[in-house]
Amino acid sequence: MCFKNGCFQNMNFPYFWLELLLPLVAALDFNYHHQEGMEAFLKTVAQNYSSITHLHSIGKSVKGRNLWVLVVGRFPKEHRIGIPEFKYVANMHGDETVGRELLLHLIDYLVTNDGKDPEITNLINSTRIHIMPSMNPDGFEAVKKPDCYYSIGRENYNRYDLNRNFPDAFEYNNVSRQPETLAVMKWLKTETFVLSANLHGGALVASYPFDNGVQATGALSSRSLTPDDDVFQYLAHTYASRNPNMKKGDECKNKMNFPNGVTNGYSWYPLQGVKGQVFDQNGNPLPNVIVEVQDRKHICPYRTNKYGEYYLLLLPGSYIINVTVPGRDPHLTKVIIPEKSQNFSALKKDILLPFQGQLDSIPVSNPSCPMIPLYINSPSHSPATKPSLFLFLVTLLHIFFK
Ligand SMILES: *[C@@H]1O[C@H](CO)[C@@H](O)[C@H](O)[C@H]1NC(C)=O
Ligand SMILES: *[C@@H]1O[C@H](CO)[C@@H](O)[C@H](O)[C@H]1NC(C)=O
Ligand SMILES: *[C@@H]1O[C@H](CO)[C@@H](O)[C@H](O)[C@H]1NC(C)=O
Ligand SMILES: *[C@@H]1O[C@H](CO)[C@@H](O)[C@H](O)[C@H]1NC(C)=O
Ligand SMILES: *[C@@H]1O[C@H](CO)[C@@H](O)[C@H](O)[C@H]1NC(C)=O
Ligand SMILES: [Zn+2]
Repeated sequence: MCFKNGCFQNMNFPYFWLELLLPLVAALDFNYHHQEGMEAFLKTVAQNYSSITHLHSIGKSVKGRNLWVLVVGRFPKEHRIGIPEFKYVANMHGDETVGRELLLHLIDYLVTNDGKDPEITNLINSTRIHIMPSMNPDGFEAVKKPDCYYSIGRENYNRYDLNRNFPDAFEYNNVSRQPETLAVMKWLKTETFVLSANLHGGALVASYPFDNGVQATGALSSRSLTPDDDVFQYLAHTYASRNPNMKKGDECKNKMNFPNGVTNGYSWYPLQGVKGQVFDQNGNPLPNVIVEVQDRKHICPYRTNKYGEYYLLLLPGSYIINVTVPGRDPHLTKVIIPEKSQNFSALKKDILLPFQGQLDSIPVSNPSCPMIPLYINSPSHSPATKPSLFLFLVTLLHIFFK
């Protein structure tokens, strides 16, 4: 199998391994799944594992195909305080098909190992995982023949590249927003996503943000870094280190050498830094409070959600957290993230502010995020590197095959 240039050379590649892997994944075969097959699989999983899954469509593609999201978690139907929300999106380029199948197999692996594998059980207990196997189902169906480079089906039905269709932090992106993009944008507002991964094809690499930038982010020195660069580099290195070929920087060699079984691609979950809720003196949770690590200025300041919750992804170390209610003095508090977290959970730290507030009493300052373009200086960027909205962009991978 070859991942180079974003496609399979042999659409039937996986049957060879079916026998070997059968005991692990009895329910899902190793073939490509068209919309109908994918839907059938997702619906059966939602039925067979109804207590830990929640299947919903976040909208429709141009051609009216459902954009399915399967949620896996101990409480799959709704957010629970203290449980971080994670999301995977694949196949936004319709011809980049591997991620779509990987996510279906990831679903299969998660649900069939709940209660059997302690690590998976713990993961399902402590994280709510949103999985969208295909953001571009029309593109996928349009793929005729894998020609391995910008094939038919990369774009959506209206010929828009969905990975260039989101608003951009650094430059004005006035392309016409497509139904798939609008559905995802709406979805993102319904949950407090803490971390995300987006699966592409075409290269064997874990890519972390930003995708473009300006002088202030370092774009002129050929990198464009986020305030959380340490965390993103750690995540990308951890991810890549679980894939020997990715780690070696290997390109396609046309040899099928999946070692036996599955690898642990989840080790990045335990990294969650610090989380908690912000309360007033009477114990009421405070939404819309800015919670930031001192000296890490984000494009959109992190704000507590409607439950007063915040989540900060941090590597072990000592940090000052700055909690700001508009119109009041910042509240500074020190946290020490231990080297080794005891369990899958982030350090929990609730913050009590010494005044009386009430739910929804804190105005959302307007605009809550800077208008674009973000920075005053706006050197030119390659149009090929316009970013998606997603926090963490992972490019191709054998997610759980080592
Ligand atoms: C659902 O359960 C049925 C009956 O046990 C089983 O035959 C089928 O393989 C399961 N499918 C999935 C996707 O879990
Ligand atoms: C996961 O949660 C279930 C139900 O709340 C509990 O019984 C179980 O002990 C937990 N398992 C782990 C490994 O955390
Ligand atoms: C987008 O902006 C460019 C330059 O500002 C302009 O030439 C183009 O017509 C605009 N396109 C749309 C769809 O508004
Ligand atoms: C805390 O954050 C607020 C708002 O983001 C900022 O104005 C203030 O300077 C920060 N204070 C410190 C000590 O970092
Ligand atoms: C896991 O860590 C969280 C946060 O530190 C803590 O509240 C919880 O009790 C821990 N659970 C176990 C089983 O140690
Ligand atoms: Zn892509």
